[in-house]
Amino acid sequence: MKSLTTLRGMSRAAITELVEAAHGYARRVEEYRPGGSELEGRAVGLLFFEPSTRTRLSFELAARRLGADVLAFAPEGSSTEKGESLKDTATTIASIGADILVVRHPEPGIPDAVQDWTGAPVVNAGDGTHEHPTQALIDIVTLSRRFGRLDGLRMGIVGDILHSRVAGSLVHAMPALDVDLMLIGPEDFLPEDSGLGLEQSSDLDSRLSTLDVVYLLRVQTERGATVDSQYARRFGLDGARAARMKPDAVIMHPGPINRGVEISGEVADGPRSLILDQVGNGVATRMAVLAALQEGLR
Ligand code: NCD
Repeated sequence: MKSLTTLRGMSRAAITELVEAAHGYARRVEEYRPGGSELEGRAVGLLFFEPSTRTRLSFELAARRLGADVLAFAPEGSSTEKGESLKDTATTIASIGADILVVRHPEPGIPDAVQDWTGAPVVNAGDGTHEHPTQALIDIVTLSRRFGRLDGLRMGIVGDILHSRVAGSLVHAMPALDVDLMLIGPEDFLPEDSGLGLEQSSDLDSRLSTLDVVYLLRVQTERGATVDSQYARRFGLDGARAARMKPDAVIMHPGPINRGVEISGEVADGPRSLILDQVGNGVATRMAVLAALQEGLR
């Protein structure tokens, strides 16, 4: 694998290979023997031009656990504030010695541009409303650990799909694994035509009891979405709604969650919630991705 900037067109076999590797790293982490040497002597550059907690920290821990050094860049306090262009910043960090670049940026397509400018392998850690491929891989790892297999699971992504790069990656990965995926949200938050033949609905209550996986999204007000007083009433997953889900159905969310908006605190902390499992699987999944890119460096 040269870079990971999109899951569009990625085959079932390629996804499965990364997921299997992530399972192996997850076992290693859980057995308290996470240290590896796959990236010894290498450096991973983290170029985050947007806020992040779990993505940045889990990429950092993943890189360190594979033996890499980490160059963590933040625009505040950097030469970006002196007017340096993104291209110059990226090529500078690669020239300092970053072998692999992890990029988060508000503009779609920037991770691909960074790859073109530097020639280095790039991982897209979220580009605007476009894609967030490692989050979707984490979600696949989390579901396969819970259910054993994904084929035939019925999953609903609920909320601000239009602005969600997580949804932007899930819509490619889940159908490739034969997950029966549907998009649920207010009309304003649904794509006019996903072009992917996915079922869409604005009636969560009529679908809830058919789903094995309810995947909630934050309303992304920083991207222009507005959340009105009706949102939580129509789409918020509270205890009463969760009680109508299938007995084994699970709740997921990429985080950060807004308690009381898309999910109640009770449900987020309840037994159906895989939210912290997703976070925990982030490190092993990102170890698998970084190790796969290292293969390509040799
Ligand atoms: C998401 C993101 O930044 O795309 N979070 C994440 O990385 N797990 C989702 C969001 O911001 O709502």
